[in-house]
Amino acid sequence: MSRLPLIIDCDPGVDDAVALLLAFASPELEVLAVTTVAGNVPGHRTQRNARMIRQIAGREDVPVHGGAERPLKRPPAHAGEFHGPEGLGDLQPFEPAGIIGDGPAANAIVDLVMKRPAGEVSIAMMGPMTNLALAMKRERRLAERLGTVVVMGGARSEGGNVTASAEFNVWADPDAAAVVFGSGCEVVCLGLDATHQVRATEARIRAIETIRTEPARTAAAMLRFSQRVERTVVGWEAAPLHDPCTIAWLLRPDLFQLRPCRIEVETSSELTRGHTAVEFRVDPATARHRWAVGVDADGVFDLITGALTPAEDGR
Ligand code: BDR
Ligand code: CA
Repeated sequence: MSRLPLIIDCDPGVDDAVALLLAFASPELEVLAVTTVAGNVPGHRTQRNARMIRQIAGREDVPVHGGAERPLKRPPAHAGEFHGPEGLGDLQPFEPAGIIGDGPAANAIVDLVMKRPAGEVSIAMMGPMTNLALAMKRERRLAERLGTVVVMGGARSEGGNVTASAEFNVWADPDAAAVVFGSGCEVVCLGLDATHQVRATEARIRAIETIRTEPARTAAAMLRFSQRVERTVVGWEAAPLHDPCTIAWLLRPDLFQLRPCRIEVETSSELTRGHTAVEFRVDPATARHRWAVGVDADGVFDLITGALTPAEDGR
């Protein structure tokens, strides 16, 4: 089987953790590295959390590189109330085994992409886009060498989750997002319009809880934590599952409806900081961006449940 070479840039984060567990359990993906960024919690915690999840998945072969501790131009902002102070909900932190990758995230991204043929390495972006923006500034040819950049970020019809118009990952570092969207890369953008359709209902969480492996138990614990936060903080019954949508799209693009567009990011107004202006009046033949307008949520959860189910269970 030819596997898709992939870098995962993330800020675990409970939903980032589920995304990592899905990716690690998917033989279709060749996870070249995980790079971490300050986002949901400070950078030293996102890096440790990624290594904790890597260990739980038994994938110490994958290097984890720590990255930017702060956005390009703004002070760091975190989202501890949605992820817990340590970033992985109720999961008790431990010092993970396994090495920390050599060199910072931005360098690792440049090295991994530039040593492969153009278009071969894709990257899944699950946090503020600081690392990729820094990598693009470091290596001007990076954008033309990257494969698809699949982003969890942005909001259009659905409105924002931090402010009226902005989603957290883009709002936290709008300047980095502007660099990525303006780079000429092919970007598939899965914003809140799509991820708010992918809800971790009671039945979907229970299906994962029946799987008796450590990765599945961990994924289910992340979903239970989010469910509790969603009910107490937001007032919704079932929490949206954002970041795993990036991995789901790479594995099963047929589960998503995308529209060609041009996406620009508001960086100057404090009121609408991080707003993603999604322009659909573009020539589809030359458009570099695609925006998700629909998703098969059952399909995404079936994919996660299936990937976490050991083969010998025959499911
Ligand atoms: C995004 O923000 C973070 O809190 C989540 O991990 C996800 O990447 C959703 O807006
Ligand atoms: Ca995230």
